[in-house]
Amino acid sequence: MGKKDKHRQDAQARTLAEQADRHLLYEMSVQCPEVDIALYNRVFKSLRGRPPVSVREDFCGTAYFSTEWCRRYPERTAVGVDLDPEVLAWARDHNLAGQPESVQKRIKLLQQNVLEVTAPKVDVVSVMNFSFWVWKTRAELERYCRVIHQTLGKEGVAFLEIYGGTEAMMVAKDKRKVDDFTYMWEQAEFNPITHETLCHIHFRFKDGSKLKRAFTYDWRLWTIPEVRECLYAAGFKTVDCYWLDVDTDRYHKSEREEQQLAFLAYLAAAK
Ligand SMILES: C[S@@+](CC[C@H](N)C(=O)[O-])C[C@H]1O[C@@H](n2cnc3c(N)ncnc32)[C@H](O)[C@@H]1O
Repeated sequence: MGKKDKHRQDAQARTLAEQADRHLLYEMSVQCPEVDIALYNRVFKSLRGRPPVSVREDFCGTAYFSTEWCRRYPERTAVGVDLDPEVLAWARDHNLAGQPESVQKRIKLLQQNVLEVTAPKVDVVSVMNFSFWVWKTRAELERYCRVIHQTLGKEGVAFLEIYGGTEAMMVAKDKRKVDDFTYMWEQAEFNPITHETLCHIHFRFKDGSKLKRAFTYDWRLWTIPEVRECLYAAGFKTVDCYWLDVDTDRYHKSEREEQQLAFLAYLAAAK
């Protein structure tokens, strides 16, 4: 058997899980930058009377959002911050590399702890997919809120995405079809005393193979009032809650809602 045939046979023998790219599956399953961008545009414009230009995407992962922010608007800039060099390399190879030079040059990626960012000052800080839940104590969350406050320009607005609901405080599993695979969310542990929660993302493919624990999150589940209090303590003037209407994929400003099994919301904190 020639080398090429052997390679072809090996590729055929590999399961779909073995061939999968977990970052791509993640983007397809949980990210929808156009919905986030639409919210940030609308809220920022209503507060400041102009569209936002510069963004910092904290915990940026693959920088999918930053890439879309700059691809859609020729005057906009983005800084993505993540600790993990592997995911930043993926961002460069898969998201930035696919863009023309005119887009690439407006995106800067920093391999850094988000607590240590000092510059540049930006219009918007975006914290998506509950990433700030890595902070386990009020002191840590307040410190992070102060970093956000200090690194926003004087018209700056921060957007922090949060989830909740009765099921968020339970050991639970959820799954849904995405394209030709299944996305599986597992809340493997929840401690009602500390609110620490251990969550995993798994993927299942149509040949029956699975990518187990493609991502694991060791988090504290924070509630909206707690996060609001930390943002006010850090110096923000207003912190509005934007609640997601799942039927329309649109957020509305709200101060009263019915409790749900699961909800998604954003806190918009303005200087
Ligand atoms: C849940 S993923 C978020 C990916 C993407 N931003 C999103 O919204 O889907 C969390 C990311 O945060 C990064 N991370 C965790 N702690 C961090 C820290 N202290 N500073 C910077 N990045 C951090 C991880 O490397 C990981 O890529």
